[in-house]
Amino acid sequence: MAQPTLIAIDAGTTGVTCLLFDTQLRPLARAYREFPQSFPQPGWVEHDAGEILAAVDETLREVLAHPEAADVRAIGVTNQRETVFALDPGAGEALLPGIVWQDRRTAARCRELRATDALGLVRGRTGLLLDPYFSATKIEWLLANTPHLRERCEGGGVVFATVDALIVQHLTEQDVVATDPTNASRTMLFDIDRKQWDPELCALFGLEVDWLPEVRPSVGDFGVTSRFLFDREIPIRGVAGDQQAALVGQGGLAAGDFKTTFGTDSFLLLNTGAERRDSESGLLTTLAVGADGKATYALEGSVFMGGAIVQWLRDQLGALPDAASSEVVAASVPDTGGVTLVPAFTGLGAPYWDPDARAAVLGMTRGTTTAHVVRAGLEAIAFQNAELIELLRAETAAPINEVRVDGGASANDLLMQMQADLAGIAVLRPSEVEATARGAALLAGLGAGVWPDASSLPTLPFDRFEPALSAPERASRMAGWKAAVARVLTTGG
Ligand code: G3P
Repeated sequence: MAQPTLIAIDAGTTGVTCLLFDTQLRPLARAYREFPQSFPQPGWVEHDAGEILAAVDETLREVLAHPEAADVRAIGVTNQRETVFALDPGAGEALLPGIVWQDRRTAARCRELRATDALGLVRGRTGLLLDPYFSATKIEWLLANTPHLRERCEGGGVVFATVDALIVQHLTEQDVVATDPTNASRTMLFDIDRKQWDPELCALFGLEVDWLPEVRPSVGDFGVTSRFLFDREIPIRGVAGDQQAALVGQGGLAAGDFKTTFGTDSFLLLNTGAERRDSESGLLTTLAVGADGKATYALEGSVFMGGAIVQWLRDQLGALPDAASSEVVAASVPDTGGVTLVPAFTGLGAPYWDPDARAAVLGMTRGTTTAHVVRAGLEAIAFQNAELIELLRAETAAPINEVRVDGGASANDLLMQMQADLAGIAVLRPSEVEATARGAALLAGLGAGVWPDASSLPTLPFDRFEPALSAPERASRMAGWKAAVARVLTTGG
């Protein structure tokens, strides 16, 4: 008899991964497809919904063909957040390219709104900041710049969908058009106290609540896959934004649990429990998932360039043959020789929120080599996270002495040691670093009743990296980093 299994669909910014897990959450099969990125103008980033859904179909079919996929109990969906599509919910087709979270086209609109009462309203209701990162100004832009879109919305023919809702409606063949609180909390249209769409915010951005998908609990019923499309009806029982799913996958279901995902970007999430906690210093308040599967609060630090710095060093600068060699090249010099790389290639996220800042390599001398710049690139990832950890420490009473890490770049031992040193924190890396998919499978398993509750969930062994830098040395390195960042800011910090 076939063993029971779970599937996670992780629709990230550059590709879709589909993983088959056993009920101990050990991966049994994996499929991945990259999809194209479109940059129609400087600062713009778009995705084609059809290409994302084709990648979902191909990876899911590949995994379902695996001999161990005979008894799939449930699917969990996790996704890049904030990216938004104008979807025709009847046809299941996006009417336009989706505007991606990285897209900066609404920077001027956000600047304008920041000078008004809207800032207080947004901050108070959503826990977010007025930045082009979030979905609301992207939707406003689509409405203002697409002929007849508003009329079509008014006729009930459009839903503005984040990637999770896009995928769920596709898998169910339009039977369910729904999102979850973690994704909704990133749109800038969701009241995180009442946990519902906010009509006042919708009015601010020129849309109506009816044009948004229904919100269902992250551990909940999102319908079943269409038999027509996939030959079988598999229940979809978990949905969460990828950063919140990674926190779940790291076992971060309780207050005080803390993770950093080292992907192309880098996101720190601290579960703060049932009480909402707001930041004074540019961290976001957002919804995560608690042990009961219901929404709980988290503080988030969002770093837009993480592993993408290594891609830039490889592709644009030609400084590396491949991403994996960054560790060896950086380790070939004992330090950066005074070089600091400030990776504001797409502006800066937390805590500066400066969409107009641009990147710089500072402190170069005649002796500077490629290896110094590569090492400075890795350090920049660790510096950005260390700065956010410093702020989290200042803002929460609980001691923050260890962080669980995941994501592709967490395989880099040198980077993990830099992170431990610069943040003065123990870094715990699980044996399985695909925490996002694991989290989605875990939510789906909880939803399907595979385990009685969160306390009986399987855990993973860790590698540990202990901080080795003295406190004064660390403080001086951090001061050097902040001085370098100050040189690229356009907002005065
Ligand atoms: O907020 C954006 C985030 O969800 C994107 O994550 O892993 O797809 O780059 P990722």
